[in-house]
Amino acid sequence: MKAVAIVGSPRKNGNTEILAKHTLKAIAGEGIDTELISLAGLDIRPCNACMVCRESGEEKCPIDDDLMPLYEKIKAADAVILGAPVYYGSATALLKAFMERCGYMGGPKRVFAGKVGGPLVVARRAGQNFTFAQIMFWFHILGFFMPGSTYWNVSFGREKGEVEKDEEGLEIAWNFGKNVALLVKKLNSVA
Ligand SMILES: Cc1cc2nc3c(=O)[nH]c(=O)nc-3n(C[C@H](O)[C@H](O)[C@H](O)COP(=O)(O)O)c2cc1C
Repeated sequence: MKAVAIVGSPRKNGNTEILAKHTLKAIAGEGIDTELISLAGLDIRPCNACMVCRESGEEKCPIDDDLMPLYEKIKAADAVILGAPVYYGSATALLKAFMERCGYMGGPKRVFAGKVGGPLVVARRAGQNFTFAQIMFWFHILGFFMPGSTYWNVSFGREKGEVEKDEEGLEIAWNFGKNVALLVKKLNSVA
């Protein structure tokens, strides 16, 4: 059993990464393997609507960048967490590019259906709820099961590390991780 967290901030060691590590720690405590993948510094381009993946029926994208190995990683995982800082009221372009291409490649074959997942969002002041919903749409349409937490998975922080002062934000991320682990284990016990 494995959970992978994709961190969609272009800034390494930032608030999203801290939050995602916290969630993964909660998951690891339940005996599930974890991996954190930061998109920072990677070349992940947006979907260009070439339709090759759709027309070939294959999970392949002709854009020659860093996406495919990550696609294979989330395809192999039992749980996928997408972490985003809010940029102008939305998820970052980097994470959106990842979502567009993974979703379009894997959607028709329902490769993500039955996996567990959900968003983690952080912002200085506003836009968390919209961004949370934006990412939730991706999980929903692809057939993931999304457990809840003790609040929506949103938190506050601006400079690197500031999210650590948001005790409730950390607690929500932790409780989300525990629920991800619980659901992964339950699904594996009946599969
Ligand atoms: C280009 C840009 C746009 C941003 N837009 C918002 C915003 O709309 N709302 C907000 O509250 N914070 C906004 N922020 C602040 C970030 O969401 C905040 O610093 C967050 O903690 C960054 O996460 P990170 O450390 O993982 O990169 C923005 C930051 C940048 C660089």
